[in-house]
Amino acid sequence: MSITSVTTQPIEGQKPGTSGLRKKTKVFMGPHYLENFVQAVFNAIGGVEGKTLVLGGDGRYFNERAAQVILRMAAAGGAARIITGQNALLSTPAASNLIRRRRTDGGIIMSASHNPGGPEEDFGVKFNTPNGGPAPEDVTGRIFDETKTLTSYKILEAGDVDIASPGERMLADMVVEVVDPVSDYAELMGELFDFKAIRELFASGFTMRFDAMHAVTGPYAKSILEGALGAPAGTVMNDVPLPDFGGGHPDPNPVWAKPLVDLVMGADAPDFAAASDGDGDRNMILGRGVYVTPSDSLAILAANAHLAPGYAGGLAGIARSMPTSRASDRVAEALNIPAFETPTGWKFFGNLLDAGRATLCGEESAGTGSDHVREKDGLWAVLLWLNILAVKRMSVAELVAEHWARFGRDYYSRHDYEAVDAEAATKLMADLKAAGPELAGQTFAGLTVSNVDEFGYTDPVDGSISSSQGMRIFFTSGERAVFRLSGTGTVGATLRVYLEKPEPDPEKQNLDAQDALSELITVVDDIAGISTRTGRDAPDVRT
Ligand code: G6P
Ligand code: ZN
Repeated sequence: MSITSVTTQPIEGQKPGTSGLRKKTKVFMGPHYLENFVQAVFNAIGGVEGKTLVLGGDGRYFNERAAQVILRMAAAGGAARIITGQNALLSTPAASNLIRRRRTDGGIIMSASHNPGGPEEDFGVKFNTPNGGPAPEDVTGRIFDETKTLTSYKILEAGDVDIASPGERMLADMVVEVVDPVSDYAELMGELFDFKAIRELFASGFTMRFDAMHAVTGPYAKSILEGALGAPAGTVMNDVPLPDFGGGHPDPNPVWAKPLVDLVMGADAPDFAAASDGDGDRNMILGRGVYVTPSDSLAILAANAHLAPGYAGGLAGIARSMPTSRASDRVAEALNIPAFETPTGWKFFGNLLDAGRATLCGEESAGTGSDHVREKDGLWAVLLWLNILAVKRMSVAELVAEHWARFGRDYYSRHDYEAVDAEAATKLMADLKAAGPELAGQTFAGLTVSNVDEFGYTDPVDGSISSSQGMRIFFTSGERAVFRLSGTGTVGATLRVYLEKPEPDPEKQNLDAQDALSELITVVDDIAGISTRTGRDAPDVRT
């Protein structure tokens, strides 16, 4: 087997975004595209010689082909060992866990998360550092720099390695260790949660549906929920991972997981329902008749985490991304622990988790997690909910109502305008920034702006600065609106508008969120000119 050095040239646009490099699958399959990016990653981390890396993905179209290429490139670079899941499958949190448990030099995760998969859809590659978390900005910056100067990459001339069954195989001098994708992860969950209490909950007749959306969590959920926890067969729906996710959009929100939402709102609703995304890091939580927003879920989990063995000692702090509602801040205050506000992107939690300053983290984009790994973790959130419900023995609706009565409710919704003209979206943001100082003190339809700012973040651990992380409009009566351009979209620009209104009075906490926010929605459109500038009269997605 010989190593070939292939001459190449820089390919434009290989800049890792919020969560690695995401492009249309066809782009990734184009000449040298994947190879260039992977070589740039290797170069940016000082080469892979003698190193051990984890490799896995969410099983989408091109997953296995890409894995074989990456294996040959790692072997050509002199890597000592690659640990990969069977058929190159690993959920993102399971990959993070393996990177940490096996004390590796990092890992490569192939996923475009919740974006659809298939030859016409999306693919992605990201690098995670030895702490198990997404590469921080200095590393992704170095990767991008490498993509701009690359002139060659190295690849081993060899056939495919057998990765269909567990075991060790050699690829030239490199060991390819194929592992069961579920077992280490399931073991970790068993350490964190009271499986006995959850088993008893299921044995008492508690009903649940978990929608794996034909994505990577199917095997994990089957093994843990229906296996270890004894939930009846059929609890896990759409459990077979498919390369195109069955033609669906594996994003656990009320739009893309509508059948599950309809189920819990209907006559045959189970006690509890949940879904996860393409690569298993996101979650959606539902109960009979209720959808729990991700922001509320974070707050409720934080307030009750001590009921699970892994968190019985209490939390060091709670971190949320800036656009996430402020509900968890009030829990932190009650627990007398610090609350952190970070830019969007799980990577910003890494330092806080590593330094032991935060234990739970969450984002409005359906991500919740803790210091057990360095990624958000869909099934983990589901299991923590189950553990809490098993101890408290109340319904999801009762638990949510109890929480709001104690801490207040934040009516919350995110409005997404997808694939809008990038120039128009950038101008909207720039104009809002410019108008900021004049807006303070002005009243629109009864709402007075208290201040407008652009969010910037100084990491309290390493002092690194991330600026321009979104525009915020605060109102004197407590409402807040946040504007951001998505860092994960693959077509044009996606404008996200996050709307929030605190309601401390339990008598007024039962409105529909869109109704409760309707005034704010109109005012914000007035201020920023969303509909006129984007040419859209309504958002594509409301969460
Ligand atoms: C990914 C990241 C999250 C982030 C989300 C939304 O899922 O892992 O950390 O919150 O994308 O990002 P976007 O830039 O599209 O709003
Ligand atoms: Zn994901």
